[in-house]
Amino acid sequence: MTSRTPATARETLGSTFAGAAGGGSGDPDKACDSSGSRGSRGTEGPAGVTVDRHLAAAERHASLAADVRAGLTSQPRELPPKWFYDATGGLLFDRITRLPEYYPTRREHAVLTAHADEIAAACPAMTLVELGSGTSEKTRLLLDALRRLGTLRRFVPFDVDEATLLQAGEDILRAYPGVAVRAVVGDFERHLGSLPGSPAGASPASPSPGTRPAAGGDRRLIAFLGGTIGNLQPAARAAFLRAVRDQLRDGDALLLGADLVKDTGRLVAAYDDSAGVTAAFNRNVLSVINRELDADFDLRGFAHVAAWNAENSWIEMRLRSVRDQEVTVRALDLVARFEEGEQMRTEISAKFTLDGLRAELAASGLATSCQWTDPDRDFSVTLAVPD
Ligand SMILES: C[S@@+](CC[C@H](N)C(=O)[O-])C[C@H]1O[C@@H](n2cnc3c(N)ncnc32)[C@H](O)[C@@H]1O
Repeated sequence: MTSRTPATARETLGSTFAGAAGGGSGDPDKACDSSGSRGSRGTEGPAGVTVDRHLAAAERHASLAADVRAGLTSQPRELPPKWFYDATGGLLFDRITRLPEYYPTRREHAVLTAHADEIAAACPAMTLVELGSGTSEKTRLLLDALRRLGTLRRFVPFDVDEATLLQAGEDILRAYPGVAVRAVVGDFERHLGSLPGSPAGASPASPSPGTRPAAGGDRRLIAFLGGTIGNLQPAARAAFLRAVRDQLRDGDALLLGADLVKDTGRLVAAYDDSAGVTAAFNRNVLSVINRELDADFDLRGFAHVAAWNAENSWIEMRLRSVRDQEVTVRALDLVARFEEGEQMRTEISAKFTLDGLRAELAASGLATSCQWTDPDRDFSVTLAVPD
């Protein structure tokens, strides 16, 4: 968060393809009214996945270095969760989503399966942007719905994890002929101003920077799924939502997936599975630091902890030092001494209520037009538009 924003690098990956291509309610079962008009059918998109890089290697390195220095020298120690996600972290997260204890992905999938057509009708977008997109698996439900409606032209996955992002982009490109895929490697807390279709971005008809289309011509649905919003602290959440709000024009919408408060046992189990996959995911941040900052964390020296913080309504993942130990981060010229039992926080995952979500959105200038949950009310999906 402390390093400067570099100039964007843009390139197109190799694969080619053929073809072309709104009422607020506390009742999650209530159907949304459709709003806006349908767009026209697709035109030919670009060949290959176009990539915008806001986090080139040097920038990513500087950002990681700044976060690790700040995190290891603060008390209590803390590391931001975005650094879990290198190629291994992405694969581990994908395994987590399939664990029996990890209900959020299945529940959100159920909500999107039931309501994707309503969502598409309420925001008949030409461009689907996905922040923190990961493998974009559930997103296919939205892509399918927008394609059925005939409005979809372009998919913009946006993630800090370049390996997973590019693989997902290529998979979507192959599966959706005629849909242009423009992947953005970036940090959604810093680089939202450069989204395609933003004042600083490009038009949907061309993958290159161009004139900004007339309002309504490039309707965008910005999806932020997986409960990732819960990884942000309240102040960062508010800043993020305001930044998203600033990107939305008339007709655009935000689709927000958020996990809901529930039985503590189920919450903790979702972050402490019996197979130890979440523990490996948690420790992966140490591997990232070892590799990228020439550190010597001994992964066996840190135990995985998942705990419910009732006061803040969030799960905390931490790494507990199992002995007194010293860690050297050579790239930072830093030595960190851990006492046995010391815990370093690596992630929060806030859990919400439907009312609380609407209030947070409203405070950031976003009006909830519809809210859905799965039948067990485990997970929510909210559609919000500029107030
Ligand atoms: C919890 S996973 C969710 C993935 C996917 N959206 C889903 O629903 O399964 C969080 C995703 O957000 C990405 N991510 C985390 N922090 C980020 C940041 N600050 N900027 C961009 N992407 C970020 C991670 O790389 C990861 O792919």
